Amino acid sequence: MNDYLKFTLSLARKAGSLLKTGFTLKKDISLKNGRELVTEYDLASEKLIIEAIRREYPGHCIMAEETLTHEISKGYCWIVDPLDGTNNYAHGFPVFAVSLALALDQEIILGVIFDPLRDEMFYTEHGYSFLNGDRIRVGAQKRLMDSLLATGFPYDLTADNENNLDLFMKFSVQALGLRRAGSAALDLAYVAAGRLDGFWELKLKPWDMAAGSLLVKNAGGIISGFNGKDWTIKTDRIVAANPHIHNQMMKIIAS
Ligand code: IPD
Ligand code: CA
Ligand code: CA
Repeated sequence: MNDYLKFTLSLARKAGSLLKTGFTLKKDISLKNGRELVTEYDLASEKLIIEAIRREYPGHCIMAEETLTHEISKGYCWIVDPLDGTNNYAHGFPVFAVSLALALDQEIILGVIFDPLRDEMFYTEHGYSFLNGDRIRVGAQKRLMDSLLATGFPYDLTADNENNLDLFMKFSVQALGLRRAGSAALDLAYVAAGRLDGFWELKLKPWDMAAGSLLVKNAGGIISGFNGKDWTIKTDRIVAANPHIHNQMMKIIAS
């Protein structure tokens, strides 16, 4: 196991443990950008992660959701979502994760997503994806009508018509089931693990997707934009699925 992976796994576990401790406690919660919640644990987790990266890799850039740059520069850059699923977390709904990715020249080379409540560590190594040490692969489902899909909705749902409700309706009648669990990082990890057959969402941020994108790719899945082009760090509308389902999802998105 290389040093970056060892470091990232240990860091995700530390941040996850902090989030787990705070989960059942009363927390300070504030609002950002109108409708988005931030808890004191988003900030504490981000601080812990940033300090550890700065200590270990002082020359690396860090993109972090709450307090640092949202730009990614060349060279090594960490992409940090200290708590994905904040709305769930603030409500005591047990679906959230820490998501850490490392990019080199804007290409994701390492992805780790840790769910501390289930003690599930999803990570990539040597071109493959793993969950707690076991290889994971995308599901083998061939037909959209037999598929379990997931999605999410942007925070500005009521302010902008581009809010995913049209696609939600279309996929509702085409798939076997839809889930909206509230953590894009875990949605992607679940596609990689074959627990979900596909996932789509729009207006996501790099830190929601960076680690999950590589997990899906290395588990044999396809991750693209709504235009069908390969996912990059700049893509904010994504479709991730096994190759059969991806193809069928793209037809619906294009229709
Ligand atoms: C959110 C979650 C959610 C998605 C939102 C994201 P946050 O991230 O991933 O599933 O629907 O678009 O912003 O704010 O909990 O880190
Ligand atoms: Ca997020
Ligand atoms: Ca977050």
